[in-house]
Amino acid sequence: MTTAATATRKTAGADPAGGADGAMKGLILSGGKGSRLRPFTYTNAKQLVPIANRPVIFYAIDQLVECGVTDIGIVVGDTAEQVKAAVGDGSAFGANVTYIPQDAPLGIAHAVKIARGFLGASPFTLYLGDNFVLGGIRPYVESFLASGCNSQILLHPVADPQSFGIAQFVDGKIARIVEKPADPPSNLAVIGVYMLDQTVFNVIEDLQPSARGELEITDALQGLIDRGLDVRAEVLDRYWIDTGKMDDILNANRMVLGTIEHRCQGEVDERSRVYEPVVLEPGSRVVNSVLRGPIIIGAGTEIIDSYIGPSTSIDHGCRIRGCRMENSVVMEDTVIEDIHWPIVQSLIGRCVELRGGHAAGGGYSLTLGDHSRIEMPDG
Ligand code: DAU
Repeated sequence: MTTAATATRKTAGADPAGGADGAMKGLILSGGKGSRLRPFTYTNAKQLVPIANRPVIFYAIDQLVECGVTDIGIVVGDTAEQVKAAVGDGSAFGANVTYIPQDAPLGIAHAVKIARGFLGASPFTLYLGDNFVLGGIRPYVESFLASGCNSQILLHPVADPQSFGIAQFVDGKIARIVEKPADPPSNLAVIGVYMLDQTVFNVIEDLQPSARGELEITDALQGLIDRGLDVRAEVLDRYWIDTGKMDDILNANRMVLGTIEHRCQGEVDERSRVYEPVVLEPGSRVVNSVLRGPIIIGAGTEIIDSYIGPSTSIDHGCRIRGCRMENSVVMEDTVIEDIHWPIVQSLIGRCVELRGGHAAGGGYSLTLGDHSRIEMPDG
């Protein structure tokens, strides 16, 4: 593991005013709206949606710490209290976290602007709290620190370039970065992990809000390029996803579960069969059921008379009885009982009750929040 001392810039690439000690800082964005993740984001921060039973923002914190970046600012908005309750002072991660309130989601570059006091003259890694990189970012942080360039961005090919910041190369050099272009110049998305030095503040000072009313990080990067500063781009060699949509959460969950190691700290009765790898957290109980990993079952969760198939995460305090389920995420304190059809490709929130087995002819009895979505089989 890299130590904090190695997360230090080898070459001063910019104005050292402010007394830079060279140690890199982290800035994680956890404000914003999250409208594509309704109904979950009516009650919760999108950065707290769990991937393998851990909020997605936890992975960003872990990955910065793994690079030796322990001084981390988190920009928070309406969901500040939830984020603070989940992350605390950062000591659980080996980090020291400072919260930076953003009154309104006025853009990623706006969030950077208001973090200037925290960042001082240090180079920093900006990590969007809903982005997920499997395997971390350490080689990229190291190459940025060693290069002395002003910014390093990471690219990943995407199927829907209209939904991202997109990079265009001319003669092998990054020439243009455009936010959500109607007519994309390439399929290379700029992912939500940016390494920057303080030259970006000069550009942000002059930025004007975009058509959607935000100070765009893509415009800030374009400003660096236009001023002839050294912006480098690397194509990421690993799995990345922006977890802003349901299917992306299921995909990220599947990818993380693909890396877990078997660990059983729960109880499994003699009538059950467990096919590894399965993580059973303390106090979990498996009764007369089949578990086919990779699966993670949270603390205190009971699985009774059920089949749980691959790529499923069930968080703590749940009770699953008389069900077949796979490739799904169930959040904490949810009860699912006696469901006739398999539950597949599902994202189920906190404290949900889903019960089958009612008398035939009684019809469905549903209490669904706004933007809930249920797809049922025929018959
Ligand atoms: O995922 C990569 C993409 O992220 C990039 O390709 C785009 O260039 C970049 O603009 C961004 O696009 P999104 O539309 O996905 O950004 P979103 O509004 O979802 O915000 C990203 C994160 O930053 C999210 O965790 C919320 C947080 N945020 C966002 C804004 C606008 C803030 O904390 N404050 C803000 O003002």
